[in-house]
Amino acid sequence: MNLSQPSRRALIASALAQSALGLAACRGRAQTPAAAATLPPLKDAVAFPVGAAISVGGLEDADYQTLLLANFSQVTADWEMKMEQILQSDGSFSFAKADLIAAFARQHGLRLHGHNLIWYIYSPAPFERVADDRAAFERAYGNYILAVGGRYRGQAVGWDVVNEPVAEDGQGYRDCLWRKVFGMDYVSIALDYARRADPDAVLFLNDYNLESNPKKRASFLRLVEDLQKRGAPLGGLGSQTHVQADLPPGAIKAAVRDLASTGLKIHISEFDVTLQPSRLMSRAAKLEAQARLAGEAGEAMAALPAAQRYAFTTWGLRDKDSWLRHAPNAGDGTDAPLFFDDEGRPKPAAAAFLKGARGTA
Ligand code: XIL
Repeated sequence: MNLSQPSRRALIASALAQSALGLAACRGRAQTPAAAATLPPLKDAVAFPVGAAISVGGLEDADYQTLLLANFSQVTADWEMKMEQILQSDGSFSFAKADLIAAFARQHGLRLHGHNLIWYIYSPAPFERVADDRAAFERAYGNYILAVGGRYRGQAVGWDVVNEPVAEDGQGYRDCLWRKVFGMDYVSIALDYARRADPDAVLFLNDYNLESNPKKRASFLRLVEDLQKRGAPLGGLGSQTHVQADLPPGAIKAAVRDLASTGLKIHISEFDVTLQPSRLMSRAAKLEAQARLAGEAGEAMAALPAAQRYAFTTWGLRDKDSWLRHAPNAGDGTDAPLFFDDEGRPKPAAAAFLKGARGTA
């Protein structure tokens, strides 16, 4: 998603704030064209797991649950498994909301993808307090990863161990508390603790704009290559794929192809196609582009060797559930970035995704 850093950071920060307040999803005007004809359940129609980011608030809605269970076989917690929800200011852990997501997944036989253990955005007080003592900091770092990764051991099929390590402009890597203490070894150290926490989960690096920014993709792949050379327990790569409607054709396929050249499992981990900011394209043209991009993403996944097809995840369920509709500065509240409209009807993007994923594009 080609937001400039401040506005993306502001978007996440304000969404974080709203999530912390547990605000329900905004009510957006249904702006999508007539929904596509009824479709087969997404999860039954393609040769790889189809996931969605979900929230505890969303699960309180029966229609949300019905749509989720009909179409998806994997879930990612939108917010509940993140450090800012789990780690309390006194250093204790609260898993109450994360456990609700995990319990729902277990109850309904859904794959659970963990998101995320370490993210540059966080610098919580319990870690800041020991930032000058590397040994104490590593004890806290390892203890957190072992506690969270270990809690869902045997259930989580994978974890985004480090989220968004590459600098926004693609030149090198982000500065963050973790890097301040460990240098870039923070990534391999996190992977090692995550492997100790869960011997079976696929361990991922996850980042965004890998489609629209070849420099960022190159930096991401340099980090991956270094980790592979060092024998780090890296098992998969997540490309968030938050994209804009004007992303050039072929960009998604090129990114997936490059990431797959590592031999690692591939997760299109947070797919959405924003219709904002509005450029020269009409809304109808942007919805058509959204469908084309969804079809391309389906084709890219289907083209992977079966062993590398980890999953395809949309970042939310219905348009009104999208993070892009929550934050006050996320445009005019009419964004329609997902496969299902506000009423849960499949959109042309859902039909195009299926066509692409089934090789009938
Ligand atoms: C977003 C969630 O959707 C919001 O609800 C939360 O408040 C902020 O984070 N890339 C990521 C996700 O890896 O964790 C972000 O999710 C969206 C961008």
